[in-house]
Amino acid sequence: MNRKRIVYLMLIFGTLIFINACYYDKAELLYPSNAGATCDTTGVISYSARVAPILRAQCYSCHSATGGSGNINMSNYANDKIIGLNGKLYGSISHASGYIPMPQGGGLMSSCDQAVIKKWITNGCLNN
Ligand code: HEC
Repeated sequence: MNRKRIVYLMLIFGTLIFINACYYDKAELLYPSNAGATCDTTGVISYSARVAPILRAQCYSCHSATGGSGNINMSNYANDKIIGLNGKLYGSISHASGYIPMPQGGGLMSSCDQAVIKKWITNGCLNN
């Protein structure tokens, strides 16, 4: 093996080690909504900043503002408030008995997402 080859090999290994060192695999940072350790439900929960993004990601594809699946319309504040206040929103996402478990076919949403929605409901489903 000549010197040039050794230098090339060292460069390749060096680059690989460098790339590995930058690899970021903290689940709670990559998937903030699944953060088990820090789930901030202090203060008043904002519908637009906290609740709507969860519902948009997990519910709105089937529950549009008009003609949603199972006659449950969502996709805007007025609709989300209705199922928030009548108990169907939390009943379905917490898989409580007597409710059809949601998101359909998607498994239970994270406990933090559930806690955020529960707090928004106990705050009175504010449009904030
Ligand atoms: C893949 C499509 C799909 C997704 C995603 C989905 N739903 Fe549904 N949802 C349905 C269907 C279909 C029904 C009607 C089920 C039935 O009648 O058996 C339904 C029914 C419901 C009901 C009525 C339940 C009851 O007990 O009366 C609620 C409330 C509901 N969904 C809320 C949600 C929420 C909240 C989300 C997001 C977390 C969600 N859904 C995500 C398809 C979906």
